[in-house]
This record gives sequence, C-alpha cells and structure tokens, in this order.
Amino acid sequence: MAPRTKVEKRMDGETGVKYTQEEFLDYYGKKKGARVWDAIGRQAAAPASTGKKDPAPKAKAKAKAKAKAPSKPRKELKVCVCGGAGGIGQPLCMQMALDPNCSELSVYDLDIAMVPPMGVAADLSHIETKCKVTGYVASKDDKPIDKMEACLTGCSLVLIPAGLPRKPGMTRDDLFGINAGIAKGLVEACAKFCPDAVVALIVNPVNSIVPAMAALYEKKGLNPLNILGVTTLDCVRANKFVGEMTGKNAKFINIPVIGGHAGATILPLFSQDKTAATIDAEKIPDLDEKVQNAGTVVVDAKGGKGSATLSMAYAGARMGSSILAGLQGRRRVECAYVKSDLTDLPYFSSKVVLGEKGVTKVLPIGDLSEHETKRLEAVKTTLKAEIDTGLAYAEKNSLAD
Ligand code: NAD
Ligand code: LMR
Repeated sequence: MAPRTKVEKRMDGETGVKYTQEEFLDYYGKKKGARVWDAIGRQAAAPASTGKKDPAPKAKAKAKAKAKAPSKPRKELKVCVCGGAGGIGQPLCMQMALDPNCSELSVYDLDIAMVPPMGVAADLSHIETKCKVTGYVASKDDKPIDKMEACLTGCSLVLIPAGLPRKPGMTRDDLFGINAGIAKGLVEACAKFCPDAVVALIVNPVNSIVPAMAALYEKKGLNPLNILGVTTLDCVRANKFVGEMTGKNAKFINIPVIGGHAGATILPLFSQDKTAATIDAEKIPDLDEKVQNAGTVVVDAKGGKGSATLSMAYAGARMGSSILAGLQGRRRVECAYVKSDLTDLPYFSSKVVLGEKGVTKVLPIGDLSEHETKRLEAVKTTLKAEIDTGLAYAEKNSLAD
C-alpha cells in the first residue's frame, strides 16, 4: 500500500476549524485565500523562527489579541426556510443551522407537512451551534402575510423550497399553476416584513416563477434583484459528472451553468473550466444532455415519491451559505437565475457576485465554444416562452400591502 501523505491544515481564526490550503482558496477566493493561509502560517511560525528575545509580556499580549481579532465583527443574520419541514426543507434547515453565519433560523411550513415545523425546529435546536431555531406553522387557507410577521421580521435571507414537486411524466412547467400561487403568498409576506432580504426561490418552475415574483417586487417599488432563482444544483451536477469522467476531484471543478433551470434551457459551459475543457469535443453533447436530464432521472428513480431533495438541500445550502458570506462582506460568485441584460431575454442564469447587499453584479457570459454558441440559441427560444408565462402572471396580479 502506498504511504499516506499528510496534507497540512491550518486553523481559520474565525471558525476555529482546520482547513487545507486548497480549502482556504476555495472558501476565500484565490487572492484572499492565499493571504489568509500565509498569515496564519507566519503567526504559527513566528515564535520559533525569530530567534529573538521574547518581547515584553504587554507587547506580546497586544500582538496576540491583534492576531486573534476578527477583521470585522460578524453580523447576526436571520434566515427563514419556507417549506422547512419538506423533503428539501428539512436537510436544508439542518445545513443552514450549521452555518456559522446563521444566528437565527425560522422553520416555516403548513400544518399538513409530513412533520410539524415545530418538531423540526425542536430537533434542530439541540445541535451544538449558536443558531437559535424557531418553528412557525400556518394552515393551508391562511394568508402568509397574516401569519409570518414574527417569522420573517429581521430576516436577511429567505429560502423557498415550498411547493409541489413533479411526478414521472410531468414537466416543471406543469407545476406553475399551483406553485406560483404558493410563491406569491410567501413573496408578498417577504415584501412586507423583510423587503431587503435576499429571497432565493427553489420552487419550480424556476424559469417562470422567478420572473413572476421579481416583476411583482418591481411593481411594488422593490429591488427585483432581491429575488433569485436557485440553479446551483445544475452546477453541482455538472461538476460531479465531469469529476467522474476525468477522475478529478469535483470539489475543484467549477462549471458555470447558464440559461435557466429546465431541460434544454440548462446550458453547462464546459469550455470554461480547465478540467472539463480537456474532455473530447465529441463527448460534450451527451454530457450536456446528462446535466439537462439529471432532475428527471431522480424524479423517475423516486417513482412518484418526489424529486431531488438531498442533493438539492446540499446545493441550496451552498447557495445560502454563499449569500450569507456575501452579506458578511466576504464576496462570493455563484450562478443564479436573475433579472438580467446579458442577452435579449429579461431573465437569465449566469454567474453573479453576492455581496453585502445580495446580488451586486451580474457577470458576463464569457467566451463560448461552438457547441455552446449553438445551444445558446435553443436556450433562448424555450426560455423566452417560460419567462413570458411568469411576466403574464405578474401583469395580472399584485402584492398586497
Ligand atoms: P416536498 O413536498 O417534500 O416539500 C414541500 C414543502 O412545502 C412541504 O412541507 C409543504 O407542506 C410545504 N408547503 C406547501 N405549500 C406551502 C405554503 N403555502 N407555505 C409553506 N409551505 C408550504 O417537496 P420538495 O421535494 O421539498 O420540493 C419542493 C419544491 O422544490 C418543488 O417545487 C420542486 O420542484 C422544487 N425543486 C427545485 C429544485 C431546483 O433545482 N431549483 C430542485 C429540486 C426540487
Ligand atoms: C431538479 O432539477 O432536480 C429539480 O428541478 C426537480 C425536478 O423536478 O427535476
């Protein structure tokens, strides 16, 4: 057996957890990650390597306090998961409760959920993090705006996996009739009780529900960029499949997926990742289709008992944690489906910068391969019709005060 090599880990002063250099670069970004890694290394090496006389105790204590002091105090960030007792909701709540940036978590669901949200909250409240978890329940006929004041007030992030999942044979589009109504009720309450929060919509069909809700926000004078569609699972899948194909660690593969979140509107940009770019051009169309159809594969495998929940909770938590990190002043870049002027379509998924005010910048698409350029045209045709469905809904409806 080959000898195991020990990978050096250094302790992050903020979390008290040890990470490898690669993990530092991954978390903080290349430049800052390298700086933080070096600084921690210097701190650890300082007493042994100086060879100088011990500094005066007072100066030593001062230096130690300075080294320990976080660069900025951590903000207290409250998060709500609507549909928090559902298939995605429960594991997503758990992941958010584990995030050191989440100081308070509201678990909101209906009294018909598979587990009472109070039970999910009681369960999570025993995990040894500082996050305070509270459950909130409503009935199907309640208006969220009448019920959610305590649950939403003070929230910086609202994650919405509330809604029906599809069954085999259905398209995501088939869910619009019922899920748009659910999303509208919840978004209406967000507009009233936490209008500056980032509202991350997981509920399908993302391609139509996001334009509908963002346009309703705009109609009310709120920032449409506070509404974003979570498409992270498409990136996660693309990274995983390329990792399997190349034998490389998916954690260090970063494939932007643009367009939308349904079938042909999902466009992975394999040419923009250095590992994926090594794959033979003739293998790309099949790989592209595998990412497009991945959701349907899970729906079929679950045989009518739901769609992706665990991988979605993983992906939703990655997005949620990136949003919280951004709000803390540690910028992150993720793909998300937002109001956009990158193409002639008014909504589009692309890389966006997450900063102290949520989505602060929509980043350009970048260079495309021949295959990707052709596919972009197909994306636009299908996506346009789905956006129009959402915009027509927003024209006919409005958010109550
Ligand atoms: P689920 O049925 O297991 O859970 C949904 C939860 O929402 C339930 O607990 C239900 O009680 C709750 N709910 C329904 N109406 C509500 C309301 N008005 N207020 C509050 N809560 C309400 O479904 P799931 O598997 O968790 O999927 C949820 C949604 O996420 C579906 O629409 C699914 O298509 C979508 N989804 C999206 C992605 C993505 O990549 N964006 C991935 C997977 C699933
Ligand atoms: C997914 O991509 O897994 C989700 O959008 C759920 C679905 O219906 O496929």
